[in-house]
Amino acid sequence: MISLTEIEHPVNFVVFGATGDLSTKKLFPSLYRLFLEKALPKSFQMICVVRSTLSHEHFVKLIEKNCTSKEKNPEHFKTFAQLISITVLNINQTNSFKTLSTQLATHMLNILYFAVPPTLYGQLTSGLAKTGCLSNSTRVVVEKPIGNNLETATQINKKLTQYFNETQIFRIDHYLGKETVQNIMALRFGNAILEPLWCAERIQYIQITVAEDIGVESRGPYYDSTGALRDMVQNHLLQLLCIVTMEPPAQINAYAVRDEKLKVLHALRPIQPNDVVTKTARGHYIQDSYQMNQMSYINETGVDPLSQTETFVAIKTEIDNWRWAGMPIYLRTGKRLRNRHSEIIIQFKEVPHKLFGHTSSHLLANRLSINLQPEENIKLFLNAKTPGKGMNLEPMALNLDLTSHSKSRRWEAYERLIIDIIQGDLTLFMREKDVLSAWQWIDPIILGWQQYMPQPEPYIIGSWGPVAADQLLARDGYIWHNPL
Ligand code: BG6
Repeated sequence: MISLTEIEHPVNFVVFGATGDLSTKKLFPSLYRLFLEKALPKSFQMICVVRSTLSHEHFVKLIEKNCTSKEKNPEHFKTFAQLISITVLNINQTNSFKTLSTQLATHMLNILYFAVPPTLYGQLTSGLAKTGCLSNSTRVVVEKPIGNNLETATQINKKLTQYFNETQIFRIDHYLGKETVQNIMALRFGNAILEPLWCAERIQYIQITVAEDIGVESRGPYYDSTGALRDMVQNHLLQLLCIVTMEPPAQINAYAVRDEKLKVLHALRPIQPNDVVTKTARGHYIQDSYQMNQMSYINETGVDPLSQTETFVAIKTEIDNWRWAGMPIYLRTGKRLRNRHSEIIIQFKEVPHKLFGHTSSHLLANRLSINLQPEENIKLFLNAKTPGKGMNLEPMALNLDLTSHSKSRRWEAYERLIIDIIQGDLTLFMREKDVLSAWQWIDPIILGWQQYMPQPEPYIIGSWGPVAADQLLARDGYIWHNPL
């Protein structure tokens, strides 16, 4: 890996699908913040590839609001906008790739960001290859979900690997770029005291929740053909699970870290289609009669009124290896839940002999809570004596507040990942085998749902999901840790 200041050759950051949601809401604002921090290489330009004629002025207007929401210096934005050029490309006409090929000289580092649907990857890459736009140093960036099952993911990867080798492909899962997610590694492997406790012998269960309060917003058609399992579990939640449970890698590099995560995916106990009724819950949100301004999922724009797509999923799983055998892991994610709240709970076992059992009704087993968003903190709940008479114990939290602890600005996931792409660091990106292993585990669940649970269970907007999700835990004698 080289540092950005050492990058002397010019970098072209080419965005296909530059006017789409991802580009305008995430990529350009992230690039702008990196620009303000002078974190981009000295010679850097952005080429926005669009389908039909669009003026520079119009495009810049389109991204300005999102870019400058936190920083209002018009001069800075103006300078940033000068680094942007617009190229029109009709993917169906080989001729149309010519302008782009003249911009992508081979002595430059060309980064091609495919912010377009995966169905276009094949045609786009072959057009680029035929017109001399690709070289051995080109990097390509693709977004999740790659495919919608093992078969389609295999096809998409085949198309990509026809033109690029694995070290040129940056498969993004933006959760891996989040500060708090990387902090899980820091917590686990930068502190010796946790390791002896990090196993099924000491931990009762793990819960991973990624709850959103937003609905599908303007992404109805995409979401309706995808659903929460493919949109969130196949990638973000499984990645979180891997980071929490993987063995310590020998080094923090792209090979060691990804190999350890892959071993977790291989050891995840498969959920067979006929297990879905007892091991999963799925639901979709419905309108709350008190809050008529938020509509039911099936009434959202672009969603089929008879849709059977889930906006919520909960799963109980286990990892069949020496460290974790026999300990349940619960995953859940959903839209239009009570709050935006992402948290990993490590619930330790109770004390072996309850000395304070009679006087301390609140005595709870120790719990480590890793809050990913919106708060970013790590809390360890310990029992301590309540002041005053008697010997009453109550849980209190040791709170590591990650936001107030450091004065430096917290980077957003895409900022970190863009820098990694420029530096050629693949540690936080997925390999083909990682993506395919995740699909291999997901596919039987999809099949099981089609056969045994075709209809998602309704849950009210603003709740914590369908009743079946609570029952999933209640069967094991547990409850979800919901924030107040
Ligand atoms: C995306 C999903 O990958 O992640 C969205 O496609 C979801 O449906 C989003 O809303 C959540 O990301 P974050 O960073 O806001 O938690």
